[in-house]
Amino acid sequence: MNRLTRHTNKSRLTIVAISTLLLTSLSVSAANSKVQSLPLSAERIGTQLQSYQAQGAGPFTAAAGQKLWLQDMDGRSCTSCHTAKVTNMGMHQNTRKPIDPMAPSITADRLTDSAKIEKWFTRNCNWTFKRDCTPQEKGDALLWLSLQ
Ligand code: HEC
Repeated sequence: MNRLTRHTNKSRLTIVAISTLLLTSLSVSAANSKVQSLPLSAERIGTQLQSYQAQGAGPFTAAAGQKLWLQDMDGRSCTSCHTAKVTNMGMHQNTRKPIDPMAPSITADRLTDSAKIEKWFTRNCNWTFKRDCTPQEKGDALLWLSLQ
């Protein structure tokens, strides 16, 4: 049994209910077929998205997040280290160190710590795009990642 199956159905259901409320209030379509299978990190993602909203961003879409993820600038993109298929292992382009899959459905503690999220957004957006990502871009990317 892997760590994905550790959580009880009850806590998963409660969190899905809370997440659905949060995401709906952020104008994300509740009809999205993936809402039923939101990962456990989704509740925290909702809080994080609200903080980006407070900075003037939103509504957020997973489609825009995926587009940012794949966006290439001078041969660099988020996929350079994390791969395009975020359920796969990644590898740091400079150090060649392995990076656990970004998908919270595979790596349970993904996207659970807002300080960690912000630290790496700053570092990675600057490595990839030579600038900070905007609150809109961060929200879109987080929403997309949270559904993987
Ligand atoms: C040069 C390699 C590299 C690139 C390119 C890169 N990342 Fe990362 N990223 C890392 C490393 C290393 C970590 C921290 C190790 C870990 O979390 O496994 C990380 C962590 C993160 C985290 C925190 C994950 C968590 O668990 O909270 C986010 C969010 C993230 N990256 C988003 C992005 C985005 C968005 C892009 C594209 C703009 C990107 N990364 C490009 C190397 C990279």
